[in-house]
Amino acid sequence: SRTVTRNAEGVATVGGLDVKRLAEEFGTPAYFLDEDDFRARCRAWRDAFGDEADVFYAGKAFLSRAVVRWLHEEGLNLDVCSAGELATALDAGMPAERIALHGNNKSAEEITRAVEAGVGRIVLDSFQEIVRVAHIAERLGKRQRVQIRVTVGVEAHTHEFIATAHEDQKFGLALAGGQAAEAVRRALKLDGLEVIGIHSHIGSQIFDTSGFEVAAHRVVGLLKEIRDEHGIELPEIDLGGGLGIAYTPEDDPREPHEIAKALGDIVTRECAAAGLAVPRLSVEPGRAIVGPTAFTLYEVGTIKELPGLRTYVSVDGGMSDNIRTALYDAEYSVALVSRTSTAAPMLSRVVGKHCESGDIVVRDAFLPADLAPGDLLAVPATGAYCRSMASNYNHALRPPVVAVKDGAARVIVRRETEEDLLRLDVG
Ligand code: LLP
Repeated sequence: SRTVTRNAEGVATVGGLDVKRLAEEFGTPAYFLDEDDFRARCRAWRDAFGDEADVFYAGKAFLSRAVVRWLHEEGLNLDVCSAGELATALDAGMPAERIALHGNNKSAEEITRAVEAGVGRIVLDSFQEIVRVAHIAERLGKRQRVQIRVTVGVEAHTHEFIATAHEDQKFGLALAGGQAAEAVRRALKLDGLEVIGIHSHIGSQIFDTSGFEVAAHRVVGLLKEIRDEHGIELPEIDLGGGLGIAYTPEDDPREPHEIAKALGDIVTRECAAAGLAVPRLSVEPGRAIVGPTAFTLYEVGTIKELPGLRTYVSVDGGMSDNIRTALYDAEYSVALVSRTSTAAPMLSRVVGKHCESGDIVVRDAFLPADLAPGDLLAVPATGAYCRSMASNYNHALRPPVVAVKDGAARVIVRRETEEDLLRLDVG
């Protein structure tokens, strides 16, 4: 995190608090989240997109009541993709009209709860869902604002995008072949729906603006087709999330203002060319807001040197608090933070305590050769998709999230206990 520094004894400090004290007070493993950094990133997105656009934070990256309150205070909206996320958002006071509901297989119950609550939009993802949402809204005597999620034929991967003729994946309705246009046709006929726009999300951890530009171009193309066929100009487009962050020093992510400018320019230009009024734009960053704001603190347990290979450094967490290395081959960095060391660097693999050899936190890292049990290691950039994807594998207790601000630390999600685990086990 940008806020980690070292004190005179070489102990890392975050928000003015030293990590040894944090470890004593909150235990390890634990996620420490810098609240000011989170808020600053929210504001950077708001400022980049200005009043003509809406920023929806993607709750799947990490969601808790405190996060919802920060978002609310900073003027962001919230994208949820399950009843659980919706419940958290509403419970923490996010106004329903600032919530968007996503998902490729929303249950009737989830849709009902969202419509009853009065969410600002539901993003429709299939032909069945168009009918389902319309019926539920009609039954409740409402007209639900909806966007239609389309796949634009851009396949975005980590560092590049590949334009594909057909998207072979479960989300959205394809522009190619006319499914998206057919979805709009059907939705426009239903009284329970108010079709407000088109939605596109091209992928995640993207470093290049070109994939977003192609998506914007194609979405505007659909708006034009809709205008020509139905005589209606849909007032909104959402271009999803996906902006990448730096996990290692080699990563070079784009800033919110760069993506805002690229998208704004394309949409304005292409709408002018098509004779369309410029629609209201929205985006859904998750990782780019919360990812860099947190690090995970681990304690070193055992150290196993494999001569000629590498040293395996086991920490007290692992794939239960960060599945991303095992799942995506994700890269992280790691640092000794409880002291400084002048010992020679040794090639290390930081592994967890789970019963799998794939239980790797950091595949390759250089750590000082005098590393010892009890040392503390920090893995930065674990704010997104770590706690939210954490599991109880091996009956691990999911770690707490501790918010740090102005020299004070407070738990916003507490550590799980054995009691929590056993409470669910009713056999
Ligand atoms: N909007 C939609 C419709 C999405 O599906 C997603 C992410 C986002 C926004 C936010 O994307 P972000 O800005 O966070 O990249 N578990 C994976 C990432 C899965 C992302 C799923 N959808 C990971 O750990 O990398």
